[in-house]
Amino acid sequence: MKRTVIQGTGRHLPKRLVTNDDISRLMDTSDEWIIQRTGIEQRYWVPEDENIGPSDLGAEAAKKALEKAGWTPEDIDLIIFASLSPDLFFPGSGCLLQHLLGLHTTPALDIRQQCTGFFYGIATADAFIRSGQANRVLFVGAEIHSRGLDISSRGRDVAVIFGDGAGAICLEGVETDEPVGVLASALHSQGEFSHSLMIEAPTFRCAPSINEEMIKEGRHYPKMDGRLIFKNAVRRLPEVAGEVLDKAGLTMNDIDLVIPHQANLRINQAFQKAMNLEDEKIFNNINKYGNTTAASIPIALDEVIENKKVGRGDTVLFIGLGAGLTWGSIVYRF
Ligand code: UT7
Repeated sequence: MKRTVIQGTGRHLPKRLVTNDDISRLMDTSDEWIIQRTGIEQRYWVPEDENIGPSDLGAEAAKKALEKAGWTPEDIDLIIFASLSPDLFFPGSGCLLQHLLGLHTTPALDIRQQCTGFFYGIATADAFIRSGQANRVLFVGAEIHSRGLDISSRGRDVAVIFGDGAGAICLEGVETDEPVGVLASALHSQGEFSHSLMIEAPTFRCAPSINEEMIKEGRHYPKMDGRLIFKNAVRRLPEVAGEVLDKAGLTMNDIDLVIPHQANLRINQAFQKAMNLEDEKIFNNINKYGNTTAASIPIALDEVIENKKVGRGDTVLFIGLGAGLTWGSIVYRF
């Protein structure tokens, strides 16, 4: 049976470290508020004077993942690029990444699932691999939030949360009788709450797609109903974890490590409590990077592998919820 296995991972963070105290100098917030409400201590933002996009961060992460997998770019059958902050409105950043990797006609697919880009991306890669349409897939999640945030007290609820960064994963179809690789996935969306976290403009609903009035109102900045997202995450994450474990024929006792999306430490602590998990069974790194949306789980996974927190035979549960709303979960065995 063909199974989708991870052959290499990589991460790349921009070099500008931004602490909570740095942010507190730009708007009415404090280190204490940010740590207490989110668990974030710092994040990385791209330098203001550097002309780089998410595809550039993604390319750096991809090169590291390719090296660990022992692949050359030519080995890639399909690129899947997840981002809510693409280089261009269109075409997708996957095409830009393809060119940066020195490739000529390799297919590149962009997905717009925000914080759940990892789940939708890996489930798509798994479907391509198991159906025989591709055997080696490069998944990249990359974001540059810092250039699209309202860096003022008006935007403080959102601006303090998000960080820039990229993570990459090389996935390969392997014939094996062992129950390894992607064991199950579960995906959901609820468009009813699409306006609870969004960037509205430029918008093709309006003519013109953006104007001075919209800019004055800050409609080109992300808007978030934090409490609504928080409540939905606390409800949906245990629910989807149960669903994916059922699909895999496992229980929480079979899971060696949970790697959740890093949106808010309190959300992950609520999940931990709901599932009755010991501290060492859940991984968090939001303190260092903030919320890097589509890059958050790939970055966490790369750290977990690098620090040997998981090894052969270990089973990992990934979970997350974000804009859309979208949410999902994946069970993976090394
Ligand atoms: O991955 C993307 C998905 N997004 C999420 O998962 C976000 C989920 N939600 C959250 O993480 C939290 O709701 C936030 C961190 C965004 C906000 O935390 P909260 O505990 O829900 O705070 P709140 O929105 O209820 O605001 C409490 C107070 C308000 O002041 P008043 O009305 O009580 O006077 C806010 O104006 O905190 C104020 N506030 C701030 N104060 C200092 C909001 N942002 C800030 C800030 N610094 N940055």
